[in-house]
Amino acid sequence: MRTRSLLVGLAMSAVTAAVSIESVSGQAPAAPAAKRSFDGALIARGAELSAIGGCAGCHTQRGGKSFAGGLPLKTPFGVIYSTNITPDLETGIGAWAESDFLRVMHDGIDRAGRNLYPAFPFDHFTRVTDDDVKAIYAFIMTRDPAHSTVPANRLVFPMNFRPLLSGWKTLYFDRGVYRRDPTRSAEWNRGAYLVEGLGHCGACHTPRNAFGAERKNDALGGGDAEGWHATALDASSPAPNAWTVDQLTRYLRRGHDDSHGTAAGPMSPVVHELSEVPEEDVRAMATYLVTLMAGATPAFARTSPTSLDDSRILSGAAIFGGTCATCHDESASAGSSVHTVPLKLATSIHAPDPRNVLHIVLEGIWPEPGEKGALMPGFEGALTDEQLASLLAYLRVHFAKGAPWPDISRHARDIIQHKHGNER
Ligand code: HEC
Ligand code: HEC
Ligand code: HEC
Repeated sequence: MRTRSLLVGLAMSAVTAAVSIESVSGQAPAAPAAKRSFDGALIARGAELSAIGGCAGCHTQRGGKSFAGGLPLKTPFGVIYSTNITPDLETGIGAWAESDFLRVMHDGIDRAGRNLYPAFPFDHFTRVTDDDVKAIYAFIMTRDPAHSTVPANRLVFPMNFRPLLSGWKTLYFDRGVYRRDPTRSAEWNRGAYLVEGLGHCGACHTPRNAFGAERKNDALGGGDAEGWHATALDASSPAPNAWTVDQLTRYLRRGHDDSHGTAAGPMSPVVHELSEVPEEDVRAMATYLVTLMAGATPAFARTSPTSLDDSRILSGAAIFGGTCATCHDESASAGSSVHTVPLKLATSIHAPDPRNVLHIVLEGIWPEPGEKGALMPGFEGALTDEQLASLLAYLRVHFAKGAPWPDISRHARDIIQHKHGNER
């Protein structure tokens, strides 16, 4: 019932939206800036900021031209395609003036005056200062133009009706640049500005409501991303080892830290882009996040040991010994040629659900294309449903000292189905 009345609310505000769209799109088009008018230092700063914003990651298809769009983003409401943001005049944003670009970043409204879906994280980008948006504009407008039209979005009714987004914004969009906290250091504020704004970490790490809006009262409390669990980055962090600023800086820039583990799944393109960002910016983000996670109870201290005599856990231990121990044996790590983090330190084993461990076991861990990095083979097809469930029960009880996860087989089926659905 609550759902229905909210939908009616959305529809009502759509009517007012139609009116306000008329008025915004009535602006006379401003002339686009010519390529040569940008200063080299501004473009370079824009490149770093663009990496923090993950613009290339979302606006580039696997194997496609950079920034030419077309990457399908799955949402609970259907598929939204990222757009071509190269400066191509016809199919990209070549005709956009700086003022159009400021408006899209701050208000989520495109040059034609249409509301954009929050799959484009304008609810975070609204926090970015004008100067930073202008630097990103200089960088984007000096990329190679690519002539390429992206597929139309495939969304369910009524979400395919863009004017509804105006109602969504009235309810959930909090416009405005980051406001600094004067009681905190400059570094902390820099980090908060980047995490909450351009870095849009909450787009994955904050849980969303039924309308796809982030739950503001549970910011960074753990969310969903492409079938993975995006770990909590607040005081409910399940990390067995409290993160320090140094460790977190290393993890965010290199994708790995010896006392926490390796970035995988949807987190790997994030760290890939952050590797191009100046260390002081990443350190500032880490400084901010560590204060948010302060007070998290290490998982070791939270859980009570479970006895290992259950037959499922014994068979899981045998599978681990035969399949995983060559690389993950606790005693052999010193002599082993493969460098792995002790599994008792891996956050995934301590997470509230088994999805990340299942993804890792089924799909493996692979370096980003063209890069060196940790490698683990995937075991999809090599283990039966039953073996997988036993293995995960063992990992959970033995390494995290936690109670076994429920629904392992259901999650495994979802992951395999989702993956093969994507390949079609
Ligand atoms: C999480 C994915 C994601 C990220 C990150 C992202 N975008 Fe987008 N962007 C989208 C999607 C999806 C759309 C289309 C939304 C729609 O159709 O309503 C879009 C639309 C846009 C548009 C409107 C273009 C048009 O033709 O209407 C611009 C400009 C844009 N993005 C620029 C950027 C910049 C600059 C960055 C980095 C600071 C960025 N985006 C980061 C997903 C993303
Ligand atoms: C050929 C070596 C190899 C084998 C075999 C292997 N792994 Fe891995 N595994 C790795 C490497 C390398 C990493 C990435 C480095 C790290 O995080 O420790 C990794 C990472 C992991 C992680 C993530 C740890 C983290 O950082 O969060 C889990 C969980 C894991 N492996 C479980 C398993 C399980 C379960 C098996 C057996 C089904 C297995 N692995 C078999 C090499 C291997
Ligand atoms: C596209 C979704 C996505 C975005 C955006 C994203 N993350 Fe993540 N992140 C994940 C997922 C999924 C995991 C869990 C998998 C893993 O540990 O590799 C994760 C894991 C992490 C971890 C490891 C936590 C732990 O205790 O093991 C940290 C730290 C982290 N993210 C920080 C960030 C920061 C900072 C940002 C913003 C700059 C960010 N993430 C943006 C999806 C995302």
